[in-house]
Amino acid sequence: MSNIVKVSEKIENFKKSITVPGDKSLSIRWVLFASLANGTSKAKNLLMSEDVLAALNAVKKLGIKVIINVKECRIFGKGINGYKYKKKLTINAHNSGTLGRLILGLLTNTPYPINLVGDKSLSKRDFRRVTKPLSKFGARFKLTKNNFLPLKIFGSSELKPIKYYENKGSAQCKSSIIFAGMRSNGTTIIKAKKSRNHTELLCKYLRLPISIKNHKNFDEIKINKVKTIKSLNYDIPSDISSSAFFIVLTALSTNSELIIKNVNINPSRTGIITILKKMGVKIFFINPKVYKGEKKADIKVISAKNLKALNCPPHLNSGAIDEFLVIFLVAAKAKGVSYFKDLGELNQKESPRLKWAEKILKKLGVRTITTNNSIKIFGNPNLNLVSDKKIIIKNYLKDHRVFMTSLIAALSFGGKWIIHDKDSINTSFPNFLKIIDNLKKK
Ligand code: S3P
Repeated sequence: MSNIVKVSEKIENFKKSITVPGDKSLSIRWVLFASLANGTSKAKNLLMSEDVLAALNAVKKLGIKVIINVKECRIFGKGINGYKYKKKLTINAHNSGTLGRLILGLLTNTPYPINLVGDKSLSKRDFRRVTKPLSKFGARFKLTKNNFLPLKIFGSSELKPIKYYENKGSAQCKSSIIFAGMRSNGTTIIKAKKSRNHTELLCKYLRLPISIKNHKNFDEIKINKVKTIKSLNYDIPSDISSSAFFIVLTALSTNSELIIKNVNINPSRTGIITILKKMGVKIFFINPKVYKGEKKADIKVISAKNLKALNCPPHLNSGAIDEFLVIFLVAAKAKGVSYFKDLGELNQKESPRLKWAEKILKKLGVRTITTNNSIKIFGNPNLNLVSDKKIIIKNYLKDHRVFMTSLIAALSFGGKWIIHDKDSINTSFPNFLKIIDNLKKK
């Protein structure tokens, strides 16, 4: 089947309600916590994407039974020390930075060395950010000379608690340290720049020995050795990062309205909502609820009329870190110059995303000034491509968010687009194109 999608028509005038798949961060975390629990955990609406399947395969390799059927996924945990470590074990995280980095925290007590490998994109991403703190616990690592995968972890049976300042605002690092802290004798103390807090909320919900103090610019987390984890049934809410593409599509289209059902709106993930509201988009949370320590709601969006440029305050960055590519499309149509700074972490994602933003915006005819950690976007409220303007996107590291952002640009601004690497969406949002087709139906 062709791996290319062609788009030559804008999408307008839709009034629909959609559901996007389960949240990726919560799905991967559920798999890992359930794999350490005592007894059977069940999840409904677990994201069935390549990243989550990689997580399920990883725990299977560690001797944990997993059953997946249409209605639910079941994991048969054997307790916090229930992994069966074998000689010559290789875990493949494929494209998933979250899986690769989080699972290392749990493998810090392995009696045999374990290999961690990933795909081409993951093998270009920094792992030193986790191997550095995990080494302080007493684990050892062998990485490539660039600090990339493949790596080998040598565990320790006597992990020492650590004090660590996580200064990148990376939830993956913070979570990996929390996991190693759960296996160490004593209290691990993490001072962490703000980032998504699903791991901490799950620890709290499971009544694990964790304490969290929220300060203005950082959180202080203390975690003690965990003896048991009770099984965890979870109905996973939809992913705000997947919703983001449809929020932007609706905002940019004419005369449209969309409701996205049952979305996780954890405040550490809603940066996109704050940013787009500041730019003049009308977005509402309907029927908000708290579920197992996490917030969720339906999200309603309405086509925007007069978009305003934004000098984006950097404290909003971590809550929107996966959404910037698509947020930049809104800036492209806003009146004035938008400025997004302190975003060096964007170049640490599945592909160097600031560079991709510059490329896509250039193809749209939008002027940018890009550095290695910032972008200025000179918006054009009349942005509209002539129908025979040909644009080709070839996404060599197969970054799912580059593919989906390009498709939203095509549907919002017109032109004749040929977008390669459709398969990249399988990592996070396999039915993305089906939902787009559904919006097109009258
Ligand atoms: C994630 C954290 C973020 C995010 C990624 C998912 C997580 O990465 O970009 O898609 O689930 O913890 P960083 O922790 O590197 O910022």
